[in-house]
Amino acid sequence: MLNNLSLCNTEKEGAAYGDKGAFLLFLCKECEAALPKLALPEEVSKATTALLAATADPFEIGKVSVCSLLCGSNLRHIIIAGCGSGRECKPTAFKQAAGEAARVLKTKKCEEAIVLAPILLNPKRTPYLEAIAEGLYLGAYDFTIYKRKAENAVTCKIKIVSACEGAELALKRALVKGQAVSMVRDLVNEPGNKLGPEELADFARQVAGENSLSCEILDRKALKELGCGALLAVGQGSVREPRLIALRYNGAGDAPYTAFVGKGITFDSGGLSLKPAANMGEMKDDMSGAAAVLGAIKAAAELHLAVNLLAVLSCAENMPGGGAQRPGDIVTAADGQTIEVVNTDAEGRLVLADAVWYAAKQGAARIVDIATLTGAVITALGKETGGIIAFDDGLAASIKEAGRLAGELWWQLPTPPDLREAIKGEEADLLNSTGSTVGGGCITGGLFIGSFVPEELPWAHLDIGGTASREKAAGFVSKGGTGFGTLTLIKLAETLASEK
Ligand code: BES
Ligand code: ZN
Ligand code: MN
Repeated sequence: MLNNLSLCNTEKEGAAYGDKGAFLLFLCKECEAALPKLALPEEVSKATTALLAATADPFEIGKVSVCSLLCGSNLRHIIIAGCGSGRECKPTAFKQAAGEAARVLKTKKCEEAIVLAPILLNPKRTPYLEAIAEGLYLGAYDFTIYKRKAENAVTCKIKIVSACEGAELALKRALVKGQAVSMVRDLVNEPGNKLGPEELADFARQVAGENSLSCEILDRKALKELGCGALLAVGQGSVREPRLIALRYNGAGDAPYTAFVGKGITFDSGGLSLKPAANMGEMKDDMSGAAAVLGAIKAAAELHLAVNLLAVLSCAENMPGGGAQRPGDIVTAADGQTIEVVNTDAEGRLVLADAVWYAAKQGAARIVDIATLTGAVITALGKETGGIIAFDDGLAASIKEAGRLAGELWWQLPTPPDLREAIKGEEADLLNSTGSTVGGGCITGGLFIGSFVPEELPWAHLDIGGTASREKAAGFVSKGGTGFGTLTLIKLAETLASEK
């Protein structure tokens, strides 16, 4: 269901409630007193008060309470979405609540809804409008393109009542971000048979075309000429050849470029170090990093951000096969360093080694890579927090802050000397995997990639191994591919644009 969102300006149009559709109210505890300002029709107002009284903790963030009312001959739902109390009532709380509410609109098969929130009567609260619109859009997402008959094929027309300054622009921004994240989720949810490196390259080329981005796609031959031995090694077990995709967005003249580099393993079987059968299918999401950088550069272009971005998607399919790389192989990366492939399932760091080198060679002034790199990040941080490994604490801090504003959690892990030591090889310069006694798999994975970034460049690595997919929808995050990281990268790009 794609929400059809529009605005209703209270000053110009009054609160034109009409006689159809659901009433969707966003309330935090402190807003309750301001409810009369919404001038709801009397019967709706009464029902709202009764619903609030009958619900335990109605203001809890993301809690949705519903009652129904017969208005004339129309059955109308009253839906209250809790947005917290006191300091909790940040835009991200409203975004979370909006995501939950969107799924209720869907299950109730609402075709029309009017969104009301006392906070939106304050002209200065535009970020809340943006958050609500974004949450509604993202919460409603589902992946149904392969269902011949979609079950929830209802489109809900949503009108948001607001007196916020710059409401039109805020709605546009929310749509741009919502569409970017939906695109990322679609890509992540595409199965491996439909989306290989070449298909991903074709798709990226199309996105570039639509947004006037420059686009360069390196195939096997071009990668060979460049010496990208690590990326090629990962791809050599598959009949589908690897691709390195580079898109540029020029929004800030000759200012330096920031590179977003994404892991694009369109399917990760583990290679000859084969993964167990259970849940192997989830590894279709192993290109989530690549999808996120594509979503971020697309949104940056659509928002006309004053920033220069380079997106690099390093794509391969990791398969066992007659030509596959073997454990014990020694490969040479583009920067000349040799790597002993201890485990072919530690392939993400191999494709990223060449990709961060490529970004640096293209003149990037700082590099952020993002990857479903390890299962170990789940052990360290769980499934809702992304891991940051960085040599530049300032860059790590700005990513963490960007995530906080965007509603995505990140935590920086340390880079202790013993783990820096652990990735050094005996027969080759580096090992792509350490023994299991070393521990800190999320950190060693990140450190490995960092070994390919020139020392003078600020660099951070984002591990989305735990957050790229989820089993159950919650807040504005859908089931399946989440698009995690996309909103953080967009926010980071906005921060960079404002620092100029
Ligand atoms: N794509 C996986 C990481 C992953 C696994 C993410 C499970 C989410 C859930 C990655 O390529 C991988 O297989 N990593 C190995 C590294 C190990 C062999 C050093 C891992 O985490 O087990
Ligand atoms: Zn992988
Ligand atoms: Mn793997």
